[in-house]
Amino acid sequence: MAILVTGGAGYIGSHTCVELLNAGYEVVVLDNLCNASEKSLDRVRQITGKELTFYKGDILDREILNKLFAENKIESCIHFAGLKAVGESVQKPWEYYNNNISGTLTLVDVMRSNGCKNIIFSSSATVYGNPAQIPITEECPKGECTNPYGWTKSMLEQVLMDIQKADPQWNVILLRYFNPIGAHKSGTMGENPNGIPNNLMPYITQVAVGKLKELGVFGDDYDTPDGTGVRDYIHVVDLAVGHVKALKKIEENAGLCIYNLGTGHGYSVLDIVKNFEKANDVKIPYVIKPRRAGDIATCYANADKAEKELGWKAENGILQMCEDSWRWQKNNPNGYDS
Ligand code: NAD
Ligand code: UD1
Repeated sequence: MAILVTGGAGYIGSHTCVELLNAGYEVVVLDNLCNASEKSLDRVRQITGKELTFYKGDILDREILNKLFAENKIESCIHFAGLKAVGESVQKPWEYYNNNISGTLTLVDVMRSNGCKNIIFSSSATVYGNPAQIPITEECPKGECTNPYGWTKSMLEQVLMDIQKADPQWNVILLRYFNPIGAHKSGTMGENPNGIPNNLMPYITQVAVGKLKELGVFGDDYDTPDGTGVRDYIHVVDLAVGHVKALKKIEENAGLCIYNLGTGHGYSVLDIVKNFEKANDVKIPYVIKPRRAGDIATCYANADKAEKELGWKAENGILQMCEDSWRWQKNNPNGYDS
């Protein structure tokens, strides 16, 4: 029996493939490579010394999905495939709703017609909007999203919950990620953003490697200890391990489960700059800029539920995350193109 990993060539997907193969699972990846390089899968093979099956294709394409199910015994799906750039989603809402929502509806339809009713879905802390409480527990009400990307996550959570409610044979695990950073310890796999990065850590590593001049810190007048935004940064390998634990839960016929995957610690933008400088002995010049539209002051998880029910806890601290992010960027200044 195999695990279908949609979006498996991407940042979180490729790290999850490593953990799945190391845990003894057979892995089948479907990715259209719209935001990834197939080289990431070669690195997965190098790191694990194991094979995986790759289909280059789209989750909107029923034909390839049916072929994939006919050729493999798929037990469960870990569904990463999706577009994820917040700013772009504001410019191209149709593309985001079509890719993420129609794509997931197609995937789920083909899954059920092939008798596979186990899915782990990549959700996001963004579904909490401006959170009603900090730290954020899973009971915290969902909030208003500020962009179409966030709405696709929030809506897809509802779609999957309704499908599970109507047919309890489905096992649906919604994983709400906080802010994934870091890279595999080998330095051969990591985040590979197109163009100028929007997210903090890839921006910092590109300043460190000399591709960008300085970091712009978006606002220093938030109601936080140093005035800059506070987030829960989680090592991508810890996140990947969380998916393997979630699969075990699926194997126990979990029904519907929702988990926050975060560390429970909040770090400000300036904390990240300082920790990055300390971990790697490099200087990160920065300037304070106006707040970025849609940003909130503080967002960090209470991740106790995942620890209690999945036996999962993030292991890597902030210095480790900074060290691993830098090793990847330093060794691969142009990502998988170098
Ligand atoms: P990523 O862009 O690196 O990976 C997504 C992968 O999906 C890419 O390889 C892309 O080529 C593929 N893809 C996109 N649309 C597809 C389609 N229609 N058919 C087939 N493949 C398609 O992003 P990531 O950071 O690895 O994120 C993985 C998932 O986790 C996404 O759903 C994302 O929204 C979610 N998520 C990410 C973060 C984050 O900060 N990275 C936070 C919360 C949630
Ligand atoms: C963003 C998305 C969120 C998505 C997540 C992962 C927004 C509003 N939210 O989260 O929906 O799930 O990415 O893809 O875009 N920062 C700077 N300078 C920079 C970049 C970031 O100061 O150049 C600050 C931000 O203001 C924020 C923190 O760093 O306080 C983290 O930003 P980022 O990495 O973009 O993640 P989020 O905004 O938390």
